Amino acid sequence: MHVIRRRGWELPERLATPEACFLNRRAFLGTAASAAALALAPAAASAQRVTDIPDPTKDLYPAKRNEKYVLDRPLTDEKINGNYNNFYEFGTSKNVTAASQALRIRPWNVKIDGLVEKPFDIGIDDLIRKVGIEERLYRHRCVEAWSMTIPWSGFPFARLVELAKPTSGAKYVRMETFMDPSMAPGQRTPYYPWPYVEGLTMAEATNELCFLATGAYGKPVAKQHGAPLRLAVPWKYGFKAIKSIVRFSFVAERPKGLWEALQASEYGFWANVNPAVAHPRWSQASEELIGTGERRPTLLFNGYGDYVADMYKGLESERLYV
Ligand code: MTE
Repeated sequence: MHVIRRRGWELPERLATPEACFLNRRAFLGTAASAAALALAPAAASAQRVTDIPDPTKDLYPAKRNEKYVLDRPLTDEKINGNYNNFYEFGTSKNVTAASQALRIRPWNVKIDGLVEKPFDIGIDDLIRKVGIEERLYRHRCVEAWSMTIPWSGFPFARLVELAKPTSGAKYVRMETFMDPSMAPGQRTPYYPWPYVEGLTMAEATNELCFLATGAYGKPVAKQHGAPLRLAVPWKYGFKAIKSIVRFSFVAERPKGLWEALQASEYGFWANVNPAVAHPRWSQASEELIGTGERRPTLLFNGYGDYVADMYKGLESERLYV
């Protein structure tokens, strides 16, 4: 039976490190007044119920499966996956399915900027039609010691890099989630450094496994999974998988993700799965296959070492597994 555990990355004040407290307090001072004003505005709440434009890429699903990526375990039931999520923009519980339906996913504009030949904006439907989509079966390992398997649809991140045409100075990709506190009540709370940000090295972004998901379970991806565009990096802990992306910036400096900004000692930049490196508060040696009660040993790079291990050679002095 699945036992719902306390989420590792919930940061109640009693667990927060001094730097997290500092950040929280500074954010609080900056946003408390506007947050209070928003919370009192009924117009903002009703605006959340605007109906989406029907998904203009629906006809592309189910996408043809790329048979190269195979699983060693069954797919996680769609209902389980769709009802046990982290999407702090819509609340800090795992039960954000209903709240996240307020996310408006059309029109959806994606900005490509930074160290690129020519910055541009592209609508999500134009982007999807341009790159095409395929289905891939991936296993994912959450930093909280549970795992799941998902049939994603989407396209390799490398295709986006080709379109972006980064210049030689680009060493990292910084990704950003939408920012709209009128739609996402979590963004009205001052405890997190919104918007959600994550980063990858250029080598990681162009690794063949690095995937941008637009769909799951043979249809456009559900809002709670980060519609209409989210990252899937199966060799890294789940918190790297930024949802509802609106911006890709090619940059020279290593970006600091939301969790790293809050709690760097526990959630680092690399976050590669490694059973031998314990989280400061629990072992990473094994994982629970969510929804089954089964436990299995966790594998280095979540079992995807053949694809990704080479990228980390020469970086042994880094905190690669936190
Ligand atoms: N992206 C955004 N924008 N907001 C979030 O709260 N949570 C992260 C990640 N991406 C999060 C996010 C965490 S902690 C996890 S484990 C995964 O999304 C969860 O993805 P899932 O709900 O699709 O399983």
